[in-house]
Amino acid sequence: MSRRRIIAGNWKMNKTPSEAVELVATLKDLVKNDDVDVVYCVPAIDIVPVAEAVKGTNVHVGAENFYIEDKGAFTGEISAPMLKDAGVEYIIIGHSERRDIFGENDILINAKVKKAFASGLKPILCCGESLALRKAGTYVEWIKRQIKWDLTDVAADQVKDLVIAYEPIWAIGTGETATADQAEEVCGIIRKTIADLYDDATAEAVRIQYGGSMNAGNAAELLAKPNIDGGLIGGASLKPDFGQIVNA
Ligand code: 13P
Repeated sequence: MSRRRIIAGNWKMNKTPSEAVELVATLKDLVKNDDVDVVYCVPAIDIVPVAEAVKGTNVHVGAENFYIEDKGAFTGEISAPMLKDAGVEYIIIGHSERRDIFGENDILINAKVKKAFASGLKPILCCGESLALRKAGTYVEWIKRQIKWDLTDVAADQVKDLVIAYEPIWAIGTGETATADQAEEVCGIIRKTIADLYDDATAEAVRIQYGGSMNAGNAAELLAKPNIDGGLIGGASLKPDFGQIVNA
């Protein structure tokens, strides 16, 4: 089965609204590729201007965070209906920075996955191990557990539309990329975990990205692996290099 490649930028807390519009213009001709889903996951304040700036192009808009209630007294938060109304299609959930810096746990992450699907947003669910777990050799169990917890009570027909990003924490923003073999090993284990939790057809449909210091130089080798269907790119998504990754 051939899965459609998905290359997503995670801009994190970078780019003011006017800088965001400039970046969209800089990347416009570089990211043209009808065979790839291209997504810009941008800070909340950039969503409206970016959605406007990408109109008529092949780029989809994603958000980096949201809260599970539709509206109400949740100061500082943003809801799924707000994102949908602004043109957002994808939502990053469970990024290690939200888990580690903002204390998000698997119970909240699971609730976010369910809410995203119920609201018509496509989750990009992140998982990944710390350097300590990698060194201890317990990373496989850790990743399996994250996937199982985060997908509790999520139906197979929803999981078919899920994107899972494998992001080893030790490779994020460090310049140290997992080797293509290391990334492929875990992405294969994630697919097997989906097959065990659901069935083979669901596992074949789910798209799995690698993330962690992916750049113009290493993207082609990572993306050539059979279980790696795309990338979730931080630093390099803010530069013209992103176009080379889309076309790798
Ligand atoms: P870097 O590409 O900057 O390592 O970030 C990866 C990441 O966290 C994407 O979500």
